[in-house]
Amino acid sequence: VIEGADGAGTTTQSKKLSEKMDAFRTCEPAGNKIGEKVDEMISSDDYSAEAIALSFAADRMVHLEEEVIPKLKEGKTVVCDRYYHSSLVYQPVLGAELDWVKDLNRYALKPDLTVVLDVSADTGMERVDERGHDDNIFEKLSFQEKVVFRYRELSNRLDEDIQLVDASGSREEVFSDILDLVSDP
Ligand code: TMP
Repeated sequence: VIEGADGAGTTTQSKKLSEKMDAFRTCEPAGNKIGEKVDEMISSDDYSAEAIALSFAADRMVHLEEEVIPKLKEGKTVVCDRYYHSSLVYQPVLGAELDWVKDLNRYALKPDLTVVLDVSADTGMERVDERGHDDNIFEKLSFQEKVVFRYRELSNRLDEDIQLVDASGSREEVFSDILDLVSDP
């Protein structure tokens, strides 16, 4: 799993990694009907943090059952751009209770490795400005500052392999650090 705040580069790096590993690349919110609804929900101020957390969790279980688990059964490596870590970081910043969000996601498979791309909120938002905004409710500097802080703390909260990578450098530098982690587990 590749994680990080907005503008950290999860899309770019998950694409590079899946090409390099000949892996199946996927992302969340996923391309199913629930994922489309989630995209719509996070583009407006009309939904509570709890409704958003529930919808992301539902999208995730369907994504797992329809795509991820079948690919793993075929023997493929799966690279996922965002996963439940995003829910554990973003939804509490919106106001949802962390333990409840954790509980909602307890049936989601644990990844072998999660790489968190660590950039300052300033750098992340600069990159979002350059690539163009998605117009979601999370793309604000004050929100992203809390997101970055929570990603840095995440490995203390979960009993799984979570590695922070400095993502302030060039795409190639960041990718090389990711490859080191993947090839030297
Ligand atoms: P994207 O920009 O990578 O497509 O992701 C959409 C936004 O949704 C991004 O700002 C992170 C956020 N998000 C959550 O808040 N919770 C989640 O569980 C996931 C997967 C994404």
